[in-house]
Amino acid sequence: MKISALDLKRQIAPIRGEVDSAIKEVIDNTSFVLGAGVGRFEENAAKYCGAKYAIGVSNGTDAIALSLLALGVKPGDGVICPAFTYYATAGAAAGIGAVPVFADIDKDTYNISLGSVEKILSGRNKFKIKAVIPVHLYGACADMDGILKLARKHKLKVIEDAAQAFGAEFKGRKAGSIGDCGAVSFYPGKNLGAFGDAGLILTNKKSVAERLMILRNQGNKNKYYHLLLGRNNRLDTIQAVVLDVKLRYLDQWNKKRQEAADYYNRSLEGFNIKRPYVPGYTTHIYHQYVLRSAVSNKVIVEYLHAKGIDSRIFYPLPLHLQKCFKYLGYRKGDFPESEKAARQTFTLPIYPELTLEEKNYIIQSLKEKING
Ligand SMILES: Cc1ncc(COP(=O)(O)O)c(C=O)c1O
Repeated sequence: MKISALDLKRQIAPIRGEVDSAIKEVIDNTSFVLGAGVGRFEENAAKYCGAKYAIGVSNGTDAIALSLLALGVKPGDGVICPAFTYYATAGAAAGIGAVPVFADIDKDTYNISLGSVEKILSGRNKFKIKAVIPVHLYGACADMDGILKLARKHKLKVIEDAAQAFGAEFKGRKAGSIGDCGAVSFYPGKNLGAFGDAGLILTNKKSVAERLMILRNQGNKNKYYHLLLGRNNRLDTIQAVVLDVKLRYLDQWNKKRQEAADYYNRSLEGFNIKRPYVPGYTTHIYHQYVLRSAVSNKVIVEYLHAKGIDSRIFYPLPLHLQKCFKYLGYRKGDFPESEKAARQTFTLPIYPELTLEEKNYIIQSLKEKING
């Protein structure tokens, strides 16, 4: 049997008619840039997330960068990020000239460790720390109460990296709608995926939303009159209308992911493997289903690949050890939990369309390895 990490063909087939006619309308109107479809999607996304404002942008990386700019983070300012996340969390901060300041992760949730953040904030730092970016990794929220408390105490801006968690809830509030800004990615492989790159920023502050609208569109409000040093980070209308169709299905898709995760969890009970830990304050939308084993993740993933199962390692090298961040001066051993997670965690394929037969084959194959 061959099981891919994700099968977008299966997801798109049943909604193909709706998506085709939405795209056709954009082509018929030739409203390719900031057409009516963008505003419509922004309104629906804001309502879905319970945020006052949603600003469509070019991708999740730009969503983080623009949020930092709109909140006044300047070149040379320190921005706290977890060491164990996708590159773009810290890459976006470095991209605007800010300095990523890494924190370790919590060993159970894989999200940023409050203890590690506190340690940074109570120590002497070379840079003035202006912001923190908690990442809702794999689809479950970081401890936003704890983050906000520290942020208030130290006057930090909070940008939630909700790239992997659109639709997840922290104490009943949607991921991305809690901090000063929330950055979302609609990369095709995300739970809500566009047909190319796309992203969104959520905020409840009018002044920030206004700055974001200007910053994403070459710094102008009225064409050819540039108020701010903006960028071309607009959301394409074609992507917006595709996302608007898909948004209607998101809750049912996320529910199916949760059911698949429950099935995996039940099937792996009693085995020597750590299943996802979901604290009471958050729901999990299982962008990824991540397991942890004392056996090297590479060995398990190789075995699953040989069985035709596309298991993955997210992420094999923490950010503080990446070549591109060498200039920051971190060393091996600085963030032990991040380094351990990189060695021990791996995914099982999870998406709404997986069949029971496929799930059983995945579990059976994994059990062969963790038993033997
Ligand atoms: C945690 C995280 N942050 C940021 C990004 C960046 O999003 P994008 O690929 O849309 O630029 C991603 C996704 O790729 C991500 O997983």
